[in-house]
Amino acid sequence: MKKVVIHRPGGYRQLAIEQHPDPVPAPDEVLIAVSAIGVNYADCVTRMGLYASAKHYVGYPITPGFEVSGLLLKCGAQVTDLQEGAAVIAVTRFNGYASRLCVDRSQVFTKPQDLSFAMAAALPTVSLTAWYALQQAAHVQAGETLLVHSAAGGVGSMLVQMGKILGCRVVAVVGATHKVEAARELGADAVIDKSVESLRDAAQRHAPEGYDVVLDANGITTLKDSYRQLAPRGRLVVYGFHGMLATRNGLPGKLRLAWDYLRTPRFSPFDLTTKNRSVLGFNLSYLFEHNAMLAAGMQQILQWQADGRLAVPTVTAFPLESVAEAHRQLESAQTVGKLVLSC
Ligand SMILES: NC(=O)c1ccc[n+]([C@@H]2O[C@H](COP(=O)([O-])OP(=O)(O)OC[C@H]3O[C@@H](n4cnc5c(N)ncnc54)[C@H](OP(=O)(O)O)[C@@H]3O)[C@@H](O)[C@H]2O)c1
Repeated sequence: MKKVVIHRPGGYRQLAIEQHPDPVPAPDEVLIAVSAIGVNYADCVTRMGLYASAKHYVGYPITPGFEVSGLLLKCGAQVTDLQEGAAVIAVTRFNGYASRLCVDRSQVFTKPQDLSFAMAAALPTVSLTAWYALQQAAHVQAGETLLVHSAAGGVGSMLVQMGKILGCRVVAVVGATHKVEAARELGADAVIDKSVESLRDAAQRHAPEGYDVVLDANGITTLKDSYRQLAPRGRLVVYGFHGMLATRNGLPGKLRLAWDYLRTPRFSPFDLTTKNRSVLGFNLSYLFEHNAMLAAGMQQILQWQADGRLAVPTVTAFPLESVAEAHRQLESAQTVGKLVLSC
């Protein structure tokens, strides 16, 4: 099989494509012949050597990748409820950038027939992240007003759509003008293009009383304002830090990184209580042990998709051999929707 291996953290040149023997499924696993692989920003951070859970669970060398679609090649002895040859989607904690993958049965779902393999591979991570942020972390209620950053990206596309499904008013923020239409089409009630207008002023104009929930993976660039923009009982959901990670040739500047780390806001418990605000954080890669909860999320997502209420984000596909170009594009902050690799 082919797989992408990162032997040492670094720039795009660290993404080596290698031949390895096919893995053999354990009794509770299945072997998948992978057709498409979702690319996530976390894969870039893993390549940079800055993704804590990559170091915690695997170390280097590492094969990144959290999600695939493909055909079931072989079932382990204890897997009796899936047919070999079935079209499936799977979530995995690393190892996804490969043409063959073994995963636990509990992480495998039937691929909806109306989705291509590329679209199916684009679905799990971003939708589970958005579902967790809205339903498990913030517990959003119908009628609440949400501020969604990076709204035309992978996770952002899902946050906007799910916010609408859950009956909320969604104010979307994008960092470039070519993304405005995409955010509107996803159903956002208002779109702020922060490349041409003041984010602070526009956010205030769209919700003078403040936001019930702000969803922020920028980190340092917006986090302080995101907290200030909360209404009483508001929840700030922090789920990433991509604003710290502007790269040159795939490598963030070390001094800038250290400076941004020091400048990242810390929230005072006294302020939280007097203002009735909450700050919530999560990282799904540490939650694979809670697989029943994640499987319930995935069932909800597949139901919304089947009902025609949740669309897979726009997909741009690259051959596996062009993995470096896919990372470069995702780090450019210019992409809309989701990138996938085809095997
Ligand atoms: N906690 C979790 O469990 C979890 C799970 C999945 C993803 N995430 C996080 O969610 C975020 C979105 O992930 P994604 O894969 O869906 O990516 P994405 O949103 O498709 O792409 C990243 C977007 O972030 C914005 N951005 C701002 N500064 C950036 C920078 N320096 N480099 C690159 N992009 C920058 C850009 O949008 P704008 O300019 O329009 O804002 C860009 O399009 C990431 O921070 C990721 O780590 C967290």
